[in-house]
Amino acid sequence: MRDDIERVLIDEAVIEKRLDAMAAEIERDFPQGPLVVIILLKGALVFAADLLRRVPRVLEIECLNVASYHGGLESSGVVDFLDRHFPEVKGHQVLLLDDILDTGRTLHAVSRRLMDEGALAVKTAVLLAKDKVRAAEVEADYVGFEIGDDFVVGYGLDYQGKYRNLPYVGILKAGSL
Ligand code: IMP
Ligand code: MG
Repeated sequence: MRDDIERVLIDEAVIEKRLDAMAAEIERDFPQGPLVVIILLKGALVFAADLLRRVPRVLEIECLNVASYHGGLESSGVVDFLDRHFPEVKGHQVLLLDDILDTGRTLHAVSRRLMDEGALAVKTAVLLAKDKVRAAEVEADYVGFEIGDDFVVGYGLDYQGKYRNLPYVGILKAGSL
């Protein structure tokens, strides 16, 4: 798997240190009271597992399956909700976790749906944010790392379903795309 990677963009130790700081920020910012954390599958799994174990407060974890990317390199522009049931968020503060903020369509669509479902307030956290003009007007409240507009894999992020288990964020070799 390592052979498919052109270069490591953010290594594991750097990610872990940043997660300590993000968790402390989140812990400080959220008022007491019910907190539901929504993990966007599958990309945010690794990030969420490592981040949430650093947040020492009572919270509930829910997962959502949405599709916007369909496994390729380009965002399709449409965000589909794939679950039969939507998590109960009425009257709750919500922290929404995703792997990467790219066009912004996913976070925009999911945040809106959460507010429509009666969430008290929605904050968003992403491991990565691409430095680019977004198609949807949205920024994340917590960003692990700002990166350039390159396609990256690892630490939850995939290319055609692969490379999510790389312990770092890297750029694929052209031959592996
Ligand atoms: P957005 O809706 O365009 O912001 O895209 C968000 C989703 O696209 C993310 O949750 C990822 O699943 C996927 N995505 C965007 N950029 C990348 C990338 O560089 N590598 C892997 N997945 C990506
Ligand atoms: Mg994805």
